[in-house]
Amino acid sequence: MRTVRFPAPSKEYDVVIGNGAVSVLGTEAKKLCPGALKALIVTETNVAPLYLDRVKNELEGAGIEVTDYVFEAGEKSKGIETIAAMWNRMAEAGFTRTDFVVGLGGGVTTDMAGFAAATFLRGISVIQIPTSLLAMVDASIGGKTGIDIAKGKNQVGAFWQPSIVIEDISFLKTLPDEVFTEGMGEVVKHAFIVDPELLEKLERANGSIREDEALLEDIVAMNVSDKASVVKEDENDNGRRQILNYGHTIGHVIERDSGYTKPHGICVAKGMGIMIDACVRAGFLDAGTAERMKDLMKLYKLPVSDDITPEAIVAGAMNDKKKRGGSISVILVNKPGQAEIKKMSPEELLRFLSK
Ligand SMILES: NC(=O)c1ccc[n+]([C@@H]2O[C@H](COP(=O)([O-])OP(=O)(O)OC[C@H]3O[C@@H](n4cnc5c(N)ncnc54)[C@H](O)[C@@H]3O)[C@@H](O)[C@H]2O)c1
Ligand SMILES: [Zn+2]
Repeated sequence: MRTVRFPAPSKEYDVVIGNGAVSVLGTEAKKLCPGALKALIVTETNVAPLYLDRVKNELEGAGIEVTDYVFEAGEKSKGIETIAAMWNRMAEAGFTRTDFVVGLGGGVTTDMAGFAAATFLRGISVIQIPTSLLAMVDASIGGKTGIDIAKGKNQVGAFWQPSIVIEDISFLKTLPDEVFTEGMGEVVKHAFIVDPELLEKLERANGSIREDEALLEDIVAMNVSDKASVVKEDENDNGRRQILNYGHTIGHVIERDSGYTKPHGICVAKGMGIMIDACVRAGFLDAGTAERMKDLMKLYKLPVSDDITPEAIVAGAMNDKKKRGGSISVILVNKPGQAEIKKMSPEELLRFLSK
């Protein structure tokens, strides 16, 4: 078990990572949420039967009264009605500003638990317990919380940092293979944009990291540090944090065009593959490195291309909330560990992506 400090400018907190890490919950909650009498555990129908009792026992053991709210698993629940139900549950249970929320689940859960906490009584504490690989390495850390609306994903939300993030590696055992692979999309992304050492480690592991708990703990911890190194410089996503969107400008368009039926991490991988090819054509990336990057993605069963047209990408990117003014921020990797943000006009992006 180990602790990585997450130094977000607005709030520094610990990310505790390891097999059995959930056992620190009771003590840490008492310490970090002084005066708390009540907690709302937010979780969903797949995760509740597996881990809800365990988490509840930890809190009750520390003398905290627990209420839970279990929603139907899946992105389709990530809306305002689910949040309203959480607000009502807390109000009915008589929560005050010193009480707190626990998010137990994948990124859908941690995004919503964070948003409910950010908004209830103008903000109460949240403790995140991510259970998917994607939520451990990405969604539950860094303080972005939110929900979807009809017009698009994550269009409403708040920056709200957790008090602590507890990542119990043993929870990953029950994660379906395809959901694990999806999380690898963000892991590989971190390796490409900031962490050549992680890239080498993933190459050496030769595609099998699930079975080796110590290795998995290492890899998760490296990813948390990677994200921390970016967020500490730009918590509110106005500058360098945008490099975390590598593969996402294109990935989001593919995801949206599929009506959100294609998983996020898979779409990001496709976006990275398309960017790698475009960078080689434009002379930003040498062919050998590009080959190495795509080989790594294939090793972890990620796709490296998609048949979306450059025209469809540009049209979709122009609707994305990440576009600023008339230009689109495109993230390029010229060498593992070196990402750069380049603003392109729609015409420039079209030229860049066209063969
Ligand atoms: N806030 C951020 O910075 C950020 C970053 C990336 C993604 N996200 C958000 O995260 C969401 C995607 O996260 P996700 O892939 O974790 O989705 P998810 O929460 O839907 O979880 C994926 C699937 O795995 C299941 N699951 C989770 N943990 C499990 C476990 N231990 N055992 C068995 N099944 C388990 C879930 O029930 C679900 O079916 C999206 O809504 C995305 O917008 C947020
Ligand atoms: Zn992502």
